[in-house]
Amino acid sequence: MHLNKRPLAALAAAFVIAASGCSSTAPARSASRGVTSPPTASVSQRPSIEPTYRHVVAADHELASKAGLEMLERGGNAVDAAVASSFALSVVRPYSCGIGGGGFMMIHLAKHPRLTGLPRTIALDYREFAPSWATPDAFTKPPLRDDPLASTEGAHAVAIPGTVAGLLYALENYGTLPRDVVLAPAIRLAEEGFPIDADHARVVNGKNVKGFFERHPAYRARFAEFRRIYDDGNTNRVGAILKQPDQAKALRLIAKDGASAFYNGPITDAIRATLKADGVAVTASDFINYAPKELAPLETRFRSRRVLTFPPPSSGGIVISQVLGMIEARKSEYDRFEYASADATHYLTEALGHAFADRSRHLADPAFVPVPVLALTSATNIRDLAGRIDMTRTQPAESYGSRLTSAGAQELRDAGTSHLSAVDSFGNAVACTETINLEFGSMLVVKGYGFVLNNQMDDFTTRPGQANAFGLRQDERNLPAPGKQPLSSMSPTIVLLDDQGKEEVELVVGASGGPRIITGTLQVMLDSIIHDIPASRAVAQPRIHHQWMPRTLTIEADLAGAPDVGGTVASILGKRGHDVKVGSSECAVQAVRRSPRDRNRFEAGSDPRKGGKPAGQ
Ligand code: GLY
Repeated sequence: MHLNKRPLAALAAAFVIAASGCSSTAPARSASRGVTSPPTASVSQRPSIEPTYRHVVAADHELASKAGLEMLERGGNAVDAAVASSFALSVVRPYSCGIGGGGFMMIHLAKHPRLTGLPRTIALDYREFAPSWATPDAFTKPPLRDDPLASTEGAHAVAIPGTVAGLLYALENYGTLPRDVVLAPAIRLAEEGFPIDADHARVVNGKNVKGFFERHPAYRARFAEFRRIYDDGNTNRVGAILKQPDQAKALRLIAKDGASAFYNGPITDAIRATLKADGVAVTASDFINYAPKELAPLETRFRSRRVLTFPPPSSGGIVISQVLGMIEARKSEYDRFEYASADATHYLTEALGHAFADRSRHLADPAFVPVPVLALTSATNIRDLAGRIDMTRTQPAESYGSRLTSAGAQELRDAGTSHLSAVDSFGNAVACTETINLEFGSMLVVKGYGFVLNNQMDDFTTRPGQANAFGLRQDERNLPAPGKQPLSSMSPTIVLLDDQGKEEVELVVGASGGPRIITGTLQVMLDSIIHDIPASRAVAQPRIHHQWMPRTLTIEADLAGAPDVGGTVASILGKRGHDVKVGSSECAVQAVRRSPRDRNRFEAGSDPRKGGKPAGQ
């Protein structure tokens, strides 16, 4: 389907000019457009030049995609591939995710040699838990009250990691290959090393590593182990080889002994010792008690499709369901908006305003506080929210959000998360998003095992009334508590389409980038489902971001400068009251989509902003 009712020659020209203005040598994420051709009305009519695959992994690093493909080529399924890619990402994207972090995996199983009762979709939650010291007032009383960096740097920022438990749970229950086979590519990459790419060098040379140590020279000694491995004066150069023999030791132990090596064994002891040396006593039972959870996916219908998104403690599924619902609630009007027009952008922004206001007020870990999922996503509520969108203007902050009965920091560290999408030729699919929160997490590296520990505690409402590192203001429902999981934006999503009586995977998608995960994932979904834009182009399109608070609408330059009736998209939105900032998406989306032209094959896209590449056959 395509919606443009008039030729967009002028818009097309604007995109071409803006794209050709990008320096090819600029770092991948700031030269973020990557738009090689304009999103015109004819996108769906052109013969596809998009490569297609019978099985494929799209990760945000090509070597991680290849680790997954290696499993698929051995006859493994999408779960084997996703687990191999995830362990490889721990090595090749150590600033984004890894065995010191946590994640969410959406698994759609259509066929499995051991399992019956398929098809079935599982939302596997292996997000970090708060350790037992983390009481609700931990960050508002001395000594943490007086340390503004306590929730982002060092041992107090670290929650109990879930990645190893989650990946091995997925492998044992839904994969098909042995543990040592699936871990082999990651071990190889850690031992033999891999070349630093542009995104990696950007992070090490940027405000959050180089800049951080310039601003806080006293922390050089505190994070000496981090600096020895990841900031040694060599590993900030594109092409330099990064070897991680210590992390290889951890991965070998996990391959040999399974999750017990990490939760009740030598790696546990090393993590506890590392935290202790930085002033925090975490108990052995904090680790022994870690267990991943199987959740029921949130389900919503959109354009005759079944959209399976992640439930709380993710906020992503609810926000995505609400926004898709608001688009459907005024479908005939929305479908008259030109692609990438001021009207389409305004409607999406206002819908995001409502959904992010709800995120801020109502969402948290449902194991600890009531979360009104049904009320927030009910048809009546969605109709009410959609009806309150005024196409002529934006509104004051307090008018957004559900009517239920009952300045953020701009120094973003945007890449502390990674998403991969995988499909096999058996009909199975995995959308997997993992994180250590901000870039290089807490900067604490486990002595002897060389991996970075997360700083996921900052995703809690550590200081009520104050925004976190992503500028998110969150409710006291999201205060920390022992064993509680912080609210997340990770949104691994699988879309199923009924094709002649048989439901098939149509789209596997997700992103990194804090709250931008949600807006990036949504926009690629809309591009793919409504506008039929192939996966590799959908992930590269210019995007917007709005999260209700702060009241800023970020628009990537190619879209901001695109001409529309009466001005550019940015100038028209400015006149409607939006506080428009032209800036980068700070989000990387990976998507796999069933080819509309050959239903046995898939398109795949890794976001050019982060420099990833899919690998498939
Ligand atoms: N730490 C990013 C997220 O989970 O939203």
